[in-house]
Amino acid sequence: MKTLQERIIIFDTTLRDGEQSPGASMDVHEKVLVAKQLEALGVDRIEAGFPISSPGDFDAVQAVAGEVKKSMVIGLCRARDEDIQAAWDAVKNATMPGIHTFIATSDIHLKYQLNMSRDQVLGSVEHSVGMCRSLCPDVEFSAMDATRSDRDFLVDVYSTAIAAGAGTINVPDTVGYTNPQEFFELISYLKKKIRDIDKAVISVHCHNDLGMATANSVSAVMAGARQIECTINGIGERAGNTSLEEVVMIFNVRKDLYKLDTSIDTSQIYPASRLVSHITGIPVQPNKAIVGANAFAHESGIHQDGYLKERSTYEIMTPEAIGYGKSNLVLGKHSGRHALSKRLESLGYRLSEEDVNKVFRRFKEISDKKKEIFDADIEAIVIEEIYRVPDKYELKHINVSSGTVSTPAATVVLGVDGEVVKDSCFGNGPVDALYKTIIKMTGFHAELKRFSVSSVTGGFDAQGEVTVELMDRDTVATGQGADPDILVASARALVNALNRMEFLKHKRSGDVPHL
Ligand code: KIV
Ligand code: ZN
Repeated sequence: MKTLQERIIIFDTTLRDGEQSPGASMDVHEKVLVAKQLEALGVDRIEAGFPISSPGDFDAVQAVAGEVKKSMVIGLCRARDEDIQAAWDAVKNATMPGIHTFIATSDIHLKYQLNMSRDQVLGSVEHSVGMCRSLCPDVEFSAMDATRSDRDFLVDVYSTAIAAGAGTINVPDTVGYTNPQEFFELISYLKKKIRDIDKAVISVHCHNDLGMATANSVSAVMAGARQIECTINGIGERAGNTSLEEVVMIFNVRKDLYKLDTSIDTSQIYPASRLVSHITGIPVQPNKAIVGANAFAHESGIHQDGYLKERSTYEIMTPEAIGYGKSNLVLGKHSGRHALSKRLESLGYRLSEEDVNKVFRRFKEISDKKKEIFDADIEAIVIEEIYRVPDKYELKHINVSSGTVSTPAATVVLGVDGEVVKDSCFGNGPVDALYKTIIKMTGFHAELKRFSVSSVTGGFDAQGEVTVELMDRDTVATGQGADPDILVASARALVNALNRMEFLKHKRSGDVPHL
């Protein structure tokens, strides 16, 4: 067991701050799936949600608390009694429960948002941390907008929080404002001045508004922080949070420099990235560090030449280290259930017999249309067949005609709450006809904000992966679908987005304002 001096605690907030990305809302089933992958990844702490924010989020945090055994499960709450009680009620049955409470400390927030004096904030910290501690042994306190707060006031706030029982004090760069040098100095100052700092772990929570979240987090660790709050693929409010895969691989690849470890099983990073991208509908940019599609691609002739002679000439880590492309074996029409099941395991998926059978059925359908099935195809099938919530709308069949002479037309058969309905429309093109028909059948007034198609693998017979973003008044929902036929993939993506829209609309009723 590594001591705290040698180890960084990884606090994942994909299910809370990550979920605050537009359109990324997850329901109970989806949160549990992501939480289980985070547990397999080996994260120390999972912030599962903000229980007072909606009944749906309360249920999701409670469900995660019931399922996860190896990581601490944490609920977020403002410094208010009813929030704290809801957070505790949601996590109390976890094997390792935790509460994270916060209040803003910058003058700008005190004046315009909280309308409180500094003394009132100090009183609130003492009371709320004390209440959390009376309920739960593990309490984290955050001073929101810390990087724009007065340093000496911060010292008082954190000293009060530790005296009231906080075991972790978190320093958020809420608006992504600081830089690595300034943050290093702030953490060093706090470490020197806060009373009884040895009784608490210093944590950091950085936003990426200026693209410095990862650098700021690493700099804070060099100044003595020992917990990093981060998300898979760096998703989160606005420009997102520190990305888990980046900080973990920095400490892994540059062990010689930092001499610090994390508890992460790095081979689970890529499956986690794919899962979160599919569930939230937020694609990963191709040049994203560690998990982007190009992160291990060598394009230029000189690089390829060097790489082929000796991998380490142009590669500082291997794709296998993050669980990407573990095997180059290709499956096909004649591959059996056993081969598929073995491949699923090696890709990091732990599925029940019943789920393997579902994947196998879809695998057979696709291998009738596509000669070679690659790992990326299998991942797309798992996401489509398994990681998808039971839906209100189910795509049954489509029939689309288009061309240079005829008017594009689509006929769609949908299952709506178990009933089968059919309709048709003309359109400007095949996707337009298809989308008009589906939208008409579901009664939404949604506007299509984004439509993108990419190919899951190379080859003319590759599966197309379609991502759509819909907006209906103030609700944004994303959806994804994959199929060798891109019109089918398009229909699947739209139906997925509409199901998510339906879920978001329900979730909204009973919400409190977001953070
Ligand atoms: O960015 C932030 O300040 C937060 C806090 C709740 C920690 O997300
Ligand atoms: Zn945040």
